[in-house]
Amino acid sequence: MSTLVVVGTQWGDEGKGKIVDLLASKADIVVRFQGGNNAGHTLVVGGEKVICHLIPSGILNEGKKCIIGNGLVLDLEVLIEEMEDLKKRGVDITPERLSISEKAHIIMPYHKAIDLAREKAKGRGKIGTTGRGIGPCYEDKAARVGIRMADLLEPDTLREKLDSNLREKNFYLKELFGEDPFDLEDIFSRYEKFGKILRPYIKEIGLELESAIVDGKKVLFEGAQGTHLDVDHGTYPYVTSSNPVASTAATGTGIGPNRLDSIMGVVKAYTTRVGSGPFPTELTDEIGDYIQKRGAEFGATTGRRRRCGWLDMVMVKDSIRLNGLTCLSITKLDVLSGLKRVKICVGYECDGERITHRPANLKRLSRCSPIYEEFEGWEEDISDIKRSQDLPSEVKRYLKRIEEISGVPISIISLGPIREQSIILKDPF
Ligand code: IMP
Repeated sequence: MSTLVVVGTQWGDEGKGKIVDLLASKADIVVRFQGGNNAGHTLVVGGEKVICHLIPSGILNEGKKCIIGNGLVLDLEVLIEEMEDLKKRGVDITPERLSISEKAHIIMPYHKAIDLAREKAKGRGKIGTTGRGIGPCYEDKAARVGIRMADLLEPDTLREKLDSNLREKNFYLKELFGEDPFDLEDIFSRYEKFGKILRPYIKEIGLELESAIVDGKKVLFEGAQGTHLDVDHGTYPYVTSSNPVASTAATGTGIGPNRLDSIMGVVKAYTTRVGSGPFPTELTDEIGDYIQKRGAEFGATTGRRRRCGWLDMVMVKDSIRLNGLTCLSITKLDVLSGLKRVKICVGYECDGERITHRPANLKRLSRCSPIYEEFEGWEEDISDIKRSQDLPSEVKRYLKRIEEISGVPISIISLGPIREQSIILKDPF
């Protein structure tokens, strides 16, 4: 197998960054295919914490090539800052190592302003977005008025597109929300400069990837967010505006779906969610607090406290189908140490009926209560265990049940934030 896609099976924050960083040592190329700087992939390497918002998490593995796909929306200030920050840490950031798709869309300052103004206006009914302009940028892409990386390289086109966009956006911001309008020349001059900095990195990445795959190179596709934040399949409208499912690894990079070999789903040993929306297994008691504190469950992008709950296998099973998962990684299992009992949700009780898939209708979903299987917990600190046979019997039982319910083998068990705190049961490549 030469390609592997890694996706989140829950509502994001499953620990994909660490898994990708771990697997990047076996890959030649690491590619991101959707989302933007709403993602924050936290890595701990050499005792130092690094958060990647746009550049693939594989960048910390020396000599690996990283690609930013056409499926992303890019905040160029954040991208350039991230490149500079990594350079300062001694990471090699050059056009030989980093490619950015010429078809990726650009998040403009007005996208951020619209995102924030809309959320403010919605009040209690807000989505709880990251406020990074992600939704408004994807809207412009679908409306065919978006500005792409290729446009940065042609100042006349950039100015023309900005001008026509600003006529609409300024009217919308001013008249509907009472916000300040944006100045064309100000944005144009800043983005023209960004274009000069980024020019050597902007490429047709689909061709590059296709020939790498044909040459037998190992390619790792890094998903952002999670399956249940997918704009089609997630808890709509409490979702992001892209498709974090595995098939986007093809559309978001410019290769065919037949090029995707293995597909790994990252499953956190419990469930978390940031932002609004239904969450059947949410724990609003002291167990939820315990998991939140032990798991340091704060958003890597916004610093918001994540809501915590038991592992929901109804969600994970949906993710197995939606992504065609061939293997799983179980993360943050160490966080559950110290709990007397642990639970796994295996179905929902809804309107007097037992169901095993998540209803699309959110009112119906809010009437669902979880059906749990309960297990003995474990006291031991398991974070430094190196072999699966040395895990406490209670942990083994918990993992075995996840594997039984999902029908998909576990390849990696992650027991802490650093690379070394991982047990690789089977090489997923
Ligand atoms: P947006 O992507 O900023 O539009 O936010 C839409 C929803 O997706 C909100 O509930 C966010 O909290 C959530 N979201 C977006 N990106 C992430 C992520 O990387 N991890 C977890 N939740 C996310």
